[in-house]
Amino acid sequence: MKKNSKPPKNEKPRSQPWNNAWKAVPILILALSVIIHYYLLKEDNIHITTQLNATYDFVIVGAGSAGCVLANRLTENGQFSVLLLEAGGNDMGNYIYDIPGYTDKAVRTHADWGYHTEPQKHAYKAYKKEISFWPRGRTLGGTSTINSLVYHRGGRGDYDKWAELGAKGWDYDSVLPYFLKSESFQSPSFRDSKYHNTNGPLKITETAFTRVADIFLNGGKELGYKIHDCNGNDGDQEGFCRLQTFTGDGLRSSTARSFLIPASKRENLHISINSHATKIHFEGKSATGVSFVRGGLKFTVNARKEVIISSGAVGSPQLLMLSGVGPKKDMDKLKIPLVADLPVGKNLQDHMMFPAMIHVNESISGSDWVYGFWSQLKYSLFRSGPLSFAGMREAAAYFRTERSASDISPDVQYQLHSIDIKYEKRFSFLDFSKPKAMTEGDIKGNGQLFTIGIMAPQHPKSVGEIRLRSADPFDYPIIDPHYLEDPYDMGCFIRGIRKLQDLVATKSFQSVQARIVQIKHEDCQSKDQDADKHWECLVRHYALTNYHPTSTCKMGARDDKTAVVDPDLRVIGIKGLRVVDASIMPFVTAANTNAPVIMIAEKAADAILNAIK
Ligand SMILES: Cc1cc2nc3c(=O)[nH]c(=O)nc-3n(C[C@H](O)[C@H](O)[C@H](O)COP(=O)(O)OP(=O)(O)OC[C@H]3O[C@@H](n4cnc5c(N)ncnc54)[C@H](O)[C@@H]3O)c2cc1C
Ligand SMILES: *[C@@H]1O[C@H](CO)[C@@H](O)[C@H](O)[C@H]1NC(C)=O
Ligand SMILES: *[C@@H]1O[C@H](CO)[C@@H](O)[C@H](O)[C@H]1NC(C)=O
Repeated sequence: MKKNSKPPKNEKPRSQPWNNAWKAVPILILALSVIIHYYLLKEDNIHITTQLNATYDFVIVGAGSAGCVLANRLTENGQFSVLLLEAGGNDMGNYIYDIPGYTDKAVRTHADWGYHTEPQKHAYKAYKKEISFWPRGRTLGGTSTINSLVYHRGGRGDYDKWAELGAKGWDYDSVLPYFLKSESFQSPSFRDSKYHNTNGPLKITETAFTRVADIFLNGGKELGYKIHDCNGNDGDQEGFCRLQTFTGDGLRSSTARSFLIPASKRENLHISINSHATKIHFEGKSATGVSFVRGGLKFTVNARKEVIISSGAVGSPQLLMLSGVGPKKDMDKLKIPLVADLPVGKNLQDHMMFPAMIHVNESISGSDWVYGFWSQLKYSLFRSGPLSFAGMREAAAYFRTERSASDISPDVQYQLHSIDIKYEKRFSFLDFSKPKAMTEGDIKGNGQLFTIGIMAPQHPKSVGEIRLRSADPFDYPIIDPHYLEDPYDMGCFIRGIRKLQDLVATKSFQSVQARIVQIKHEDCQSKDQDADKHWECLVRHYALTNYHPTSTCKMGARDDKTAVVDPDLRVIGIKGLRVVDASIMPFVTAANTNAPVIMIAEKAADAILNAIK
């Protein structure tokens, strides 16, 4: 630290210096704890290489949720050399990404690609130009370094259906061991459950801090749902649960922290950051290497065995198409020589969320103290307290709002966020804190707000696509999710809202006079403010992405015309090239996507190592 070298000013001597001295104590403690904290975080870091070899056994493009897992598993036995390329930098030790309570501040930073969608015809009516902002991680750990930390695996229905549709070997019983392989469950609950493991590299902690969580769970019980482990129960998610989160020892369990720190000192792994891949090279129908730009210079490296693309649901289809793997029509238009005519970028799916604000008459949420002085101090000294939790995400619920034969999974998820929505950066443009957006009198008195995010539908029928904007690898691609285009999706939202009205009417919620805040928009003027049509208007205005884009390089049987990769994640018709990340999901899981992506990478690593034996 720099010493203050300024000479003391000619101040008048104070008569009673000790009267004011105590005021400095908290500041001193805070300063001290910040320094201690800084050194603690500095300890664990990732060893970055600047050296590059001409050839590696495997070249992995993208050090995100999936890429970090692969880099670890493929170098574990010491037999293979691996290069891990990442377009972003290394943000380990940066408090915004490390401290779970700051999770909502991690988007719109240098570690975020900050994509935007095309204007949406059927959604995003309240947003500027009807465009959705799309954060994606650009740093070691990828999106697992900037996401909201919710650990949900999805259930039996999803994976059994994947297998049935042609993803042989991906049924629930086959994927469960790979969820377990990663996990190190930290909390006392469910430790003996066969659905959890305590000795993997990925620390998972159960959370719940405020009375709001109890009110939420008890309300669920009154409605007849069980309170259970949403990741257990033979893969049946339906019910209410405390949230399991990607946190451990008070820190974010990004895949960079969990998988790269232990692997980065291995001799057989090189990690190259600020390295933007621009092209996959082929000889005939075999992938041979990758070109990338680092510090303004272009490098090309060769892969002896395989090139593995783990650049995420946006980055992977983009890089494949830039390299000539994509729809022939589009490749021709951009004059990119065709290597394989495949439906890359099609089948884009995403979850949407409608933020229902709940008003209660007592100060029971985290709004008043999560970011307060004592919370900061407690975290700095002990790495515990409210900031060690996932930004007040505390509980969740899964429902089947409609029963039919095709109901393989719950169709709606709620996520309880026990804090006023105004603390979330992603909603800042809505500015709900201004009374204009609300009914008069809604936030009068001593009351408080918290949010229940309605995530519906879990299996959307609206399907979008990603296309190249140009042949320039630094141009962002065209992202068009077609949000709320299919009427099924809106119906599901309405049922999710009706169910929430039931929940808020329970004795548990009424013990704090809970009610759903009526959001206003000048376009939504129905006489009956509770009519389906009125809610539909609000959903089309305010529902937004829940950040789960998937399925743009869909997995399926080798003869499936809609598939890009086979069940071993090999690009169909090409040798030595796999895609391993969120883009291979046949359809989006009825759950948040980070845990499934980590499972996908664990399973792929096994498949790759087995194929080589
Ligand atoms: C704000 C937000 C909140 C979320 N909250 C949750 C949550 O609470 N729970 C949950 O389960 N899921 C959540 N998700 C989703 C989840 O994090 C993602 O589905 C998951 O991280 C995707 O993993 P991936 O490996 O497919 O891609 P990523 O993790 O995005 O990894 C791709 C990596 O490739 C790199 N890359 C891309 N292109 C190139 C290139 N050309 N050259 C080199 N490198 C490249 C990127 O920089 C990135 O590091 C959230 C997402 C966001 C954005
Ligand atoms: C890079 O090359 C050197 C020299 O041939 C070799 O010793 C080393 O193991 C290689 N490292 C990797 C990660 O391939
Ligand atoms: C909130 O409402 C409940 C139930 O009506 C009541 O018992 C309680 O006293 C109220 N709290 C405050 C602070 O008004």
